[in-house]
Amino acid sequence: PANTSRHADGAVRIGGVDVRELARDFGTPLFVLDEDDFRSRCREYQRAFGERARVHYASKAFLCTEAARWVAQEGLSLDVCSGGELAVALRADFPPERIAFHGNNKSVPELAAALDAGVGVIVVDSFEEIDRLDRLTAENPPAGGRQDVMIRVTVGVEAHTHEFIATAHEDQKFGFSLAGGAAAEAARRVLRAGGLRLVGLHSHIGSQIFDLAGFELAAKRIVGLLSDLHDEHGAQTMADLDTLDLGGGLGIAYTEQDRVPEVGEIAATLWEIVRRECGFAGLDTPLLAVEPGRSIVGPVMVTLYEVGTTKDVVVQDGASRRYVSVDGGMSDNIRTALYDAVYDCRLVSRRAEEPPVLSRVVGKHCESGDIVVRDCWLPADLRPGDLVAVAATGAYCYAMASDYNRLPRPAVVAVRDGQARLLLRRETMDDLLRLEVS
Ligand code: LLP
Repeated sequence: PANTSRHADGAVRIGGVDVRELARDFGTPLFVLDEDDFRSRCREYQRAFGERARVHYASKAFLCTEAARWVAQEGLSLDVCSGGELAVALRADFPPERIAFHGNNKSVPELAAALDAGVGVIVVDSFEEIDRLDRLTAENPPAGGRQDVMIRVTVGVEAHTHEFIATAHEDQKFGFSLAGGAAAEAARRVLRAGGLRLVGLHSHIGSQIFDLAGFELAAKRIVGLLSDLHDEHGAQTMADLDTLDLGGGLGIAYTEQDRVPEVGEIAATLWEIVRRECGFAGLDTPLLAVEPGRSIVGPVMVTLYEVGTTKDVVVQDGASRRYVSVDGGMSDNIRTALYDAVYDCRLVSRRAEEPPVLSRVVGKHCESGDIVVRDCWLPADLRPGDLVAVAATGAYCYAMASDYNRLPRPAVVAVRDGQARLLLRRETMDDLLRLEVS
């Protein structure tokens, strides 16, 4: 996080709060969130994309009521992709007209809840969904008579990221294909649907992307579709379609070696392409929308763990590897096991006395794939009771947490100006047992 410092005795402070105090007051494992850093990243996105853009925070990366309030206060919009995320947003009194609802298989109750809440826009992803939504709006007409929708388009871009988080190549489940003409057909159906208003085209090419070329190609193709739709239906019919949403996906640095594009750079690049391509096609420049999740919340959190055991294991030719077991694991960070994600880990409760050794940080789950940090350098004198922190765990860690092996989910605490505030309390044994019915 931005507001981190190391003190004379070697202990780290985040947002002005000593990590030893955090561990004492809230226990470990603990997610620590730097509130000022979160808010300033929201503002940075707004500033970079400017007046004619809408920045949606992608709540799937991390959501709780208080974070939704910050997003609202900073003037951003919010993406949700399930009835559960919608419920948290509504609990935070998030302005519903600034909520966008995503997903490839929204259920009828979820769609009904979104209509009931009056969400700003629903991003449709299948022909069945267009029909379902049209039917639902007939039964329960939205305030303005029609529900605003965007069409999720598969732009056919191979984003250079892990296979599981690339989403715009042809052979996957999301969106309407450009190549096969499905996207144009989806637009026809939405235009025919009495209860829907086509306000935008949407593309999301994947996540943890460093190379802007994928975004550039996606932007070009989506403007191409906009232009085709103008040719087919005429400017008047297309008058409501004023937004191109280019999704989220900007990568972050997980270690000191990662070099990341600046938000300003991506904003300037996307605006330039959209202006230029629209110019060529004789179209007015539309509004832009983007949906950052990871690049807002990822860097602003760390996970604090207590070291429980250390073990030196001979790996080959007499070389050894230090296994450091911490009190969490794949239940609070599945990303290493699932995507081969690379993290960094530091001793944060005191100063190191001995030089670093190559270490592997593992959790306490009953499988050997339970690795939090595959390779990192931790001091040779690391011992039980030390606190270590894994950086950049704000996105898709708590959000993907489970209670595998019946480990309670950790607490999440926000720090700011020397004060710590609990956002999500630690699960208790009672919580773990509360679903048992017999
Ligand atoms: N918009 C849409 C439609 C999305 O599907 C996503 C992420 C985003 C925006 C936000 O993308 P971001 O800016 O956070 O990259 N669990 C994986 C990431 C899955 C991303 C899913 N969609 C991980 O831990 O890497």
